[in-house]
Amino acid sequence: MKTLVILAHPNLASSRINKAWAERVKKEENVYVHDLYANYPDFKIDVEKEQELAVQFDRIVFQFPFYWYSSPALLKEWQDVVLTYGWAYGSKGTKLQGKEFVVATSTGGPAEAYQEGGYNRYPMNHLLLPFQATANLTGMKFQTPFLFQGAGGDLSDKVIQDSAESYARLLR
Ligand SMILES: Cc1cc2nc3c(=O)[nH]c(=O)nc-3n(C[C@H](O)[C@H](O)[C@H](O)COP(=O)(O)O)c2cc1C
Repeated sequence: MKTLVILAHPNLASSRINKAWAERVKKEENVYVHDLYANYPDFKIDVEKEQELAVQFDRIVFQFPFYWYSSPALLKEWQDVVLTYGWAYGSKGTKLQGKEFVVATSTGGPAEAYQEGGYNRYPMNHLLLPFQATANLTGMKFQTPFLFQGAGGDLSDKVIQDSAESYARLLR
């Protein structure tokens, strides 16, 4: 299965989790990591190029650090301009149909914060519903999200590497 990882991190140089994830899965055969902020620092996305790229893969991954309970802005822009009517949705918009869709995200808050009674109140599967709804509308098969939670804490390299290994196993 060929996998396209659409990576959206505004400051990859200072990243620990997403950088480790991206570097690890780049080594996998059949995984292509497409760094949005590196390609479009001016936010001017080449829609045709993105659509031509996306159709070549069986699985699409959105990989990003969780920002304000969603994705960083350039990934939202990607959705706004690339997922067009007649291409991604609508009676003739079938280009993504049947592909697997994975959200891979890291959160600063720990897992226990993302539940009723926790300081973020809502579980991740609720907060990620817009992504699931997008998968539904475009005919993609929404998979269990891959999460790293508690990125704001004091993390050992081993914890991060173990997570990167699990991510690579998932995409293999
Ligand atoms: C602008 C901004 C918004 C953020 N919003 C959230 C948030 O809504 N929830 C959360 O748990 N962490 C939030 N964080 C923390 C990031 O998710 C965390 O720093 C990131 O996942 C770490 O991954 P990295 O090592 O790849 O940078 C935010 C960080 C920034 C800079």
